[in-house]
Amino acid sequence: MTGDIFGPDGLLAAWLTIVWGVAVYRLGRIGYAPSHKRLRRRIRGTLVFVALGSLMAAAKLAYDFSIWPDGWTDWRNKLILQAPLLAAPVALTLLLSVPRLWRASRLSRNETSDARPDGAFRRKVADPLAVVPVQAAAVGTCLVLYLSVFAAVPIGWPDLVVPLPLMALAAIGLWVRQKRRRRALGRLNWTLPPISVRAARGTLAAAIVAACLVFWVRGAAEASKLPDRIGMQDMQDMHEMHEMGAEGEMAGLSVAALTGPVVGEPDDKFELAAEKRQVRLASGAAVDAWTWNGQLPGPELRVKQGDLVQVTLRNKNIAEGVTIHWHGLDVPNAEDGVAGVTQDAVMPGQTFVYRFVAEQAGTYWYHTHQDSNEGVAQGLFGALIVEPKDEPVPEQQEMVVLIHRWSTDQGQRDAFGTQDGLERQTVAPGTTVRLRLINTANEPRKLNVAGASFKVAAIDGTDVNEPEELTNRRLLLAAGGRMDLSLAMPDRPVLLCAEEGSCEDGGGLLLTPDDQAADRPEAAGGPMFDPIDYGKPEPTPFGLDSHFDREYEMVFDRKLGFYDGHFSYMFTINGASYPDTPVFTVSEGDLVKFTVTNRSAAHHPLHLHGHKLLVLSVNGKAVSGSPWWTDTLDLGTGDSYEIAFRADNPGIWMDHCHNLQHASVGMMTHLAYEGITSPFLAGRGTVNHPE
Ligand code: C2O
Ligand code: CU
Repeated sequence: MTGDIFGPDGLLAAWLTIVWGVAVYRLGRIGYAPSHKRLRRRIRGTLVFVALGSLMAAAKLAYDFSIWPDGWTDWRNKLILQAPLLAAPVALTLLLSVPRLWRASRLSRNETSDARPDGAFRRKVADPLAVVPVQAAAVGTCLVLYLSVFAAVPIGWPDLVVPLPLMALAAIGLWVRQKRRRRALGRLNWTLPPISVRAARGTLAAAIVAACLVFWVRGAAEASKLPDRIGMQDMQDMHEMHEMGAEGEMAGLSVAALTGPVVGEPDDKFELAAEKRQVRLASGAAVDAWTWNGQLPGPELRVKQGDLVQVTLRNKNIAEGVTIHWHGLDVPNAEDGVAGVTQDAVMPGQTFVYRFVAEQAGTYWYHTHQDSNEGVAQGLFGALIVEPKDEPVPEQQEMVVLIHRWSTDQGQRDAFGTQDGLERQTVAPGTTVRLRLINTANEPRKLNVAGASFKVAAIDGTDVNEPEELTNRRLLLAAGGRMDLSLAMPDRPVLLCAEEGSCEDGGGLLLTPDDQAADRPEAAGGPMFDPIDYGKPEPTPFGLDSHFDREYEMVFDRKLGFYDGHFSYMFTINGASYPDTPVFTVSEGDLVKFTVTNRSAAHHPLHLHGHKLLVLSVNGKAVSGSPWWTDTLDLGTGDSYEIAFRADNPGIWMDHCHNLQHASVGMMTHLAYEGITSPFLAGRGTVNHPE
């Protein structure tokens, strides 16, 4: 129930089912052996598969236990499901079936090899105690396979309570059947029923199974369709809603009221027009792009901290609708730009005005949050840079690098902006360079800086406290995440490239000390940068020992199943997919802690809107360097993070995986403040599809 479905977990379960299936088939034929010789051979064949199946069951259990972290949820799953479904029947097989079959085979050696085993002998090998445990093990492996592939952790109630009684029922049924079979086999002149009868029986059984399957599959596909209307009220626990009504002076405050300053002359005014048009990358590859102002990526918005920013969005011709979300910037809820939660999607011909004060300096980005899986991939994004207010801007050369993967007429192309080859920039030696890296793609990217040492000056917009100089260190940039690098330009070329891409194929961003055609240095390699102990600690408003008003657990997992009518590889939050995912409720002022664990084989960049998250610990190790603030946190396989934030920005906030493809198959939920409601609806029957 963890890892890749097509990795050890699912594959072992599938092979287990096959091996035990064969064991059952072979076992069933022993009683019908025409001679003692054949009987012994059949017993031997069965025992070989039983031995193989037992070894594989042990491997599966060892694997499951080894990769499952501690915690009651996990133990519950292990104890209730794996132990009785897999371990128990296998143990009974080894204890009861194997010695009986072995004894029968030894006794058979005293008989004439060619003689047909008599009734007494046939009864012996058809003993339910010899047969049923093996059959039960096969049933158990089927259930384990089902749970490994179709259930996600934490396993929901039906999946938790159904398998055991089902197993017990199956065992009883098999027992009764085997007793009848033994009686029949024990009769003196018993022969197999004619082939026609057996074939008819087999076909009937297969038809019944197939009919049940079709019925079930169609029902599941239909049931998975997203509702016509999804409102926050439907998602939120009714109990919480009641509490909220009782508590609340805030009861019923609409997100639409939580705007930025409505009056006042803006310090910065921008217009962004959404428009579909074809744009070419540097290589000439064409993108059927969704653009802001006809540009790829959209124009860079650069403002000063404390500015009142006004952005007018106009949708020219994007039939799917658009919005603008200010990724990482904590704006008031009504300005957050999520279709169906904080506003309605802006349809062709319509406009929408966003107004907010840019409180936090740093590197951010903006993108559509309507149909975002498609819209962002096709280009509806751009950089949003907030320059610090009081500090004089240091003498430095800034470069903003948007790391994206485009689908073009020449296939997938990785690029920095639209540069999918090598870009040269001349930088005078001695210049301080600030590289603002923004990953706008769905996958984390591994980046390399060659030719110079550098500092990670900021993560997700927040400055690192006293960052140290790094040489030959690779960087993992979360999908949606940002890192600012700062380096002193040496008198030789410096290369920024992405692994499994520009590093290998001669591309990237090449800074050269003069406009001479300098050689491109080789990608540097080296260990991966880890923020956990980088920089110097400094006091934080809360930490591991704080008292938290709310503590939540969030488990990322995966399963196969139907999502919105389609059979999909789904990613789940606490076992469920949107809109069945749990909404996390907070009250204004709460100090909130989340423990987030990723049990699937994919990376999941966790992105919470409206709040900065402080990382407290990673896989049980406390953060010991600079305070590590983030808004987009990459979780690799098996990773577990403790993160905390102060609930100081009332509203209803998206909380989702920023692999937007994962979000589009249900990996999203909300953080909801008590007493806040949203008049906006998402779902099939509305224009709003935030994912
Ligand atoms: Cu950058 Cu909810 O997204
Ligand atoms: Cu994900």
